[in-house]
Formats: sequence, C-alpha cells, structure tokens
Amino acid sequence: TDAARAAVAAHTRHVAGFPEPGVVFADLTPVFADGAALAAVIDGLAAAGRGPDGAATVDLVAGLDARGFLLGSGVALRLGVGTLAVRKAGKLPPPVLREEYQLEYGSAALEIPAEGIALEGRRILIVDDVLATGGTVSAAVALLRRAGAIVERVSVVLELEALGGRARLQELPAGGIAVSA
Ligand code: PRP
Ligand code: HPA
Repeated sequence: TDAARAAVAAHTRHVAGFPEPGVVFADLTPVFADGAALAAVIDGLAAAGRGPDGAATVDLVAGLDARGFLLGSGVALRLGVGTLAVRKAGKLPPPVLREEYQLEYGSAALEIPAEGIALEGRRILIVDDVLATGGTVSAAVALLRRAGAIVERVSVVLELEALGGRARLQELPAGGIAVSA
C-alpha cells in the first residue's frame, strides 16, 4: 500500500557490511518503533489475507521467527484470527516438525508443534518482515504443508529483489506473494 511504502521509505536504515561483508542490511527496527508506521505496515500485510468484500480468507496467521512475530500478532488481530509462531529450532517442546534452510548469511531450521494445534486443512497467511533469498519462507511453506495446512499467501513488508527470493518460491502461485512496501 502507499501508506506502508511511505512508512518504510521514511524509517528504514540501510547498514552496509552487516551481519557480514557484502550484505547491505535493511533494518526495519525504526519502522516498528513508530506507531503510525507500524499500523501502516500491519494494515498492508493484513490486506493479503482479505477477499474483495474485506472478510478474512485465512484461518490462521503464521509469523516467522523472530521479526515476523512482531507483525503476525497484529495482522491476526486485524483479521480476527489466531496466530502461530513458526520458531527457530530448539525453542518448542517435542514433538515438532522441523525444516532446515539456507539464509543469506548462514543456515538455520524452523519448527512448528506436531501436536496441540490443528493445522490439517487450515488456510494460512505467512507473515514476515523481509523476503531476501526466500529460504526462510520456502522452509515455512514446506513445514506448514507437511502439517496438512493450506498456505494461501505469503505477506512481507519488504522484498530485496536482488536476492531472487521470488524465483525460488515457485511452489506458490502467481499473486501468492504480497509485498506491502
Ligand atoms: C531474516 C528476516 C527473514 C529472513 C529473510 O530473519 O527476518 O525472516 O531473514 O531471509 P531469506 O529470505 O534469505 O530467508 P533472520 O533469520 O535473520 O532472523 P531474525 O528475524 O530472528 O532476526
Ligand atoms: N534486512 C532484514 N532482514 C534480512 C535482510 C536484510 O537486509 N537480509 C536477510 N534478512
């Protein structure tokens, strides 16, 4: 949305050489710390989970560890549904489903509970701050699908287009990735 684009343009810090040489890190911390900017990005993200009549088209919002949590809960509140924290490995009690993936800097694994939350047949909106190489979102899609969930869309604040994440996410249909800024 225009409001999300303006908020991100006004408040993002670009830091060269973090977390390692060659990476220019887009730091959205000041966006989230500004009330109006936070509301603008949450509204932008939530739009991806609504149909033409404005009603929610998903049953659950999945926020990706850790910055996706800041956004996922707000998006879920806006849509009137619950939220699931998709965690980095080792944080959740067993049993879990786990999916390993590569990051722009290093590798990691995501986990969700294998019991206690019904995911079979549920329609999911995945929410995160930044789409970079697409490794994180791709792992989250695979993980949620293994649990029987239906990943309707992925909604991110910012896409770092140079890193080719969209090309990697071919398991999602066209229009499956929504970018708000
Ligand atoms: C960042 C960002 C996304 C992911 C994007 O998270 O918040 O989740 O990387 O990169 P990708 O598209 O190349 O996978 P990070 O893993 O650094 O974790 P954090 O949110 O805990 O800081
Ligand atoms: N900013 C924020 N998160 C990220 C980035 C970035 O530039 N690259 C990978 N994850």
